[in-house]
Amino acid sequence: MNAIRIALLGAGTVASGVVKVLDRNREEIRRRAGRGLEIVAVAARNHAKARAALGEALPLTTDFAALATRDDVDIVVELMGGIEPARSLVLAAIAAGKHVVTANKALLALHGNEIFAAAQARGVMVAFEAAVAGGIPIIKAVREGLAANRIEWVAGIINGTTNFILSEMRDKGLDFATVLAQAQRLGYAEADPTFDIEGVDAAHKITLLGSIAFGVPVQFERTHVEGIAQLEGADIRYAELLGYRIKLLGIARRTATGIELRVHPTLIPASRLLANVEGAMNAVVVLGDAVGATLFYGKGAGSEPTASSVIADLVDVTRLHTADPGHRVPHLAFQPGELADTPILPMSQVRTAYYLRVRVRDEAGVLAEITSILAERGVSIDAMLQRPSGENGAHTDVILLTHDTIEGRMDEALACIQALDSVLEPIVRLRKEELR
Ligand code: NDP
Ligand code: HSE
Repeated sequence: MNAIRIALLGAGTVASGVVKVLDRNREEIRRRAGRGLEIVAVAARNHAKARAALGEALPLTTDFAALATRDDVDIVVELMGGIEPARSLVLAAIAAGKHVVTANKALLALHGNEIFAAAQARGVMVAFEAAVAGGIPIIKAVREGLAANRIEWVAGIINGTTNFILSEMRDKGLDFATVLAQAQRLGYAEADPTFDIEGVDAAHKITLLGSIAFGVPVQFERTHVEGIAQLEGADIRYAELLGYRIKLLGIARRTATGIELRVHPTLIPASRLLANVEGAMNAVVVLGDAVGATLFYGKGAGSEPTASSVIADLVDVTRLHTADPGHRVPHLAFQPGELADTPILPMSQVRTAYYLRVRVRDEAGVLAEITSILAERGVSIDAMLQRPSGENGAHTDVILLTHDTIEGRMDEALACIQALDSVLEPIVRLRKEELR
């Protein structure tokens, strides 16, 4: 059988991994796919850079639109990143009847509904395994492997750059800027690394995972996003003293009133496997009612790990290329007409536990004031720590861990505590998840 014909859009970190791995494992991949996989051309705006990344063998073009719609192309692989021109090129490829493989989580988190609808109408596939957790086949696992389950929650370390930064800062005491520069050199970071640091990249990914887990349309605008830029070394140390590690977690949880979709730094017990995921590694825990907890671990970023997922998609598309579109796996795991309108909960309705650090004047009665404000709102305290802070220990850090409560109630309590005369600085509030 003739090889399936592939067009690559973009010639950067991931594209170079795809070219290398396809070349190195050509015969194994052909035996799996049932036919060869051939890259017919690569679109790149800077050919000198593209040659350095991909070698001399592949034809290059600067005409992205022409390549995305070329008659002899079966699959278009979008590895440019960003929204435009990626969105227009993907839609043009779909309109021209091409299958699409993309690693672009930003594009799908913002425009996935439009793109999947266009693909459905045209009878083509859009595959995106590499868009979530790099080399870990988490999309396939949730969409296919766990199809029997009612999924209760998904929680994961799904941004390699921030996990690398947190690990290096904790283990080696390196500063934020030095570690970020390393992550960029290693090809982990997004073109705009603020997407990593501010939690936006993880939010793109948890948005997609939430849709697949619960069968709802993609709703990035309703996902709560907080990154690690404000995180202080003191809180990493206090968390350790209390038996916790801080990780940037993406969480998607089903509740009786709606779905929680959130990304924020989170304290998790140091004994959990997830707490021990270090460097650029990613890990995702999925709790299904039948299977129980499942853990998926692996490289979440980098050239060849991400290429591994892109090529897995290419093999899938090649195998299903001639199948009746009605017999293919739906993009969001549930049949397009079966997506639910379950609401995504606002953060004020999310139920979780908290870590609070309150810097106070060291005087009688302060602790009682704080705890009574919490008690009046039904917030119960789980653990407490007090440490001198400031020059010569002039002040005191009161660190509290609470049991679960509703975020709106915690917001009210924090506003009252912040207004106390004895409270000297903005209160640090982090969320805590036991992940049982
Ligand atoms: P790179 O920045 O390394 O490569 C992007 C490529 O696309 C470059 O060739 C770049 O050209 C080209 N490109 C970008 N924007 C344009 C544009 N407007 N017009 C023409 N060409 C453009 O990115 P990565 O390979 O790291 O990432 C590619 C995709 O994969 C992104 O969506 C990213 O989020 C995703 N991804 C990346 C992972 C990683 O570990 N790197 C992991 C998982 C997903 P030029 O060099 O001239 O800028
Ligand atoms: N910038 C992303 C990360 C790449 O650090 O996880 C993988 O999606």
